[in-house]
Amino acid sequence: MSANNQIVVTGGAGYIGSHTVVELVNAGYEPIIIDDFRNSKEWIIDRLNDITNQSLKVYTVDCTSQTDIDKVFADNKGIVGVIHFAAYKAVGESVAEPVMYYENNITSMCVVLNAMKKFNVEQLVFSSSCTVYGEPDNPIVDEHTPIQKAESPYGATKIACEQLAQFAVQSGQALKICLLRYFNPIGAHPSGKIGELPQGIPNNLVPYITQTVKGIREKLTVFGDDYNTADGTCIRDYIHVVDLADAHVKALNWLAKQSSSVCEPFNLGTGKGSSVLEIIHTFENVNQVKVNYQIGDRRPGDVEQIWANAAKANNVLNWHCKYTMADALKHSWNWEQNIEA
Ligand code: UFG
Repeated sequence: MSANNQIVVTGGAGYIGSHTVVELVNAGYEPIIIDDFRNSKEWIIDRLNDITNQSLKVYTVDCTSQTDIDKVFADNKGIVGVIHFAAYKAVGESVAEPVMYYENNITSMCVVLNAMKKFNVEQLVFSSSCTVYGEPDNPIVDEHTPIQKAESPYGATKIACEQLAQFAVQSGQALKICLLRYFNPIGAHPSGKIGELPQGIPNNLVPYITQTVKGIREKLTVFGDDYNTADGTCIRDYIHVVDLADAHVKALNWLAKQSSSVCEPFNLGTGKGSSVLEIIHTFENVNQVKVNYQIGDRRPGDVEQIWANAAKANNVLNWHCKYTMADALKHSWNWEQNIEA
């Protein structure tokens, strides 16, 4: 008979998912990983077993299969919550493949909510994104900042899943939900054993930097230096992935204390914005390396500047970042040097 401490982690072998699995174990939960490894590698599980000193439970199944997901819930009697990471996440790809994005991201959310209803599981933590705020009038966004019309199918699936979560709660299903709106996750586990595994050419800034310094890419292009910011490059709120992972544990702890149904959004960022050039120069300083870069054109669809007001997560969830942007960039480089070929 298992204790009532099992947490289903869909996408548990992914970038944020894998770091969250570690924090769940540290906090005394038993994670049950669901991942079909389409955007990860099976050796990440060996690394997780190594870090946590456990033999973690893993189901290699697709989250859009109701039958397979129901079976996970039927097999495990101590499930108290779900953290739903499994989703496609590349903005550009979503523009080329909108149906694939809707089919995968929306269906898996429906499957998870169906399984939770069938098996009386109440706590859900959903991976959302600051993309829901679009290009805000004020760069510092809190949870009252209006949700914008989505600029990409990826963003549209995040908004749709947030709305579905709200409607599911309003329908009377016994549900307690946190919608976690991530800003820009960077960094890797300090052990260097897990981190981000981009497929092909990275879309995101930091993996592009680490691959350039490693020699996999020739040169980083900075997408525009004519924005209305101090150095002309875009500003984002870069948050260490371990801090982000810890927020999921804090969210579950908070949900467990709620006596009635709830659906609350939380911004997860450091509260500080950094420009692209600041990231590059900090990376160079902390790692004592040179980043080969050039200034290029703006990337279509990029928001000029956005960073989080994370006071709600700080105060309500009692969550606080422990790592700096410099720590994260050190850990990213450490990880890049440890990635298996
Ligand atoms: N950048 C470059 N060169 C690159 C890659 C990125 O200059 O090769 C710049 C971008 O123009 C941007 C910054 O680095 O100014 C960060 O870009 P990322 O692609 O790393 O991250 P984004 O802020 O564009 O995207 C992130 C998430 C998305 C999410 C989006 C919401 O990755 O999932 O925030 O704003 F939708």
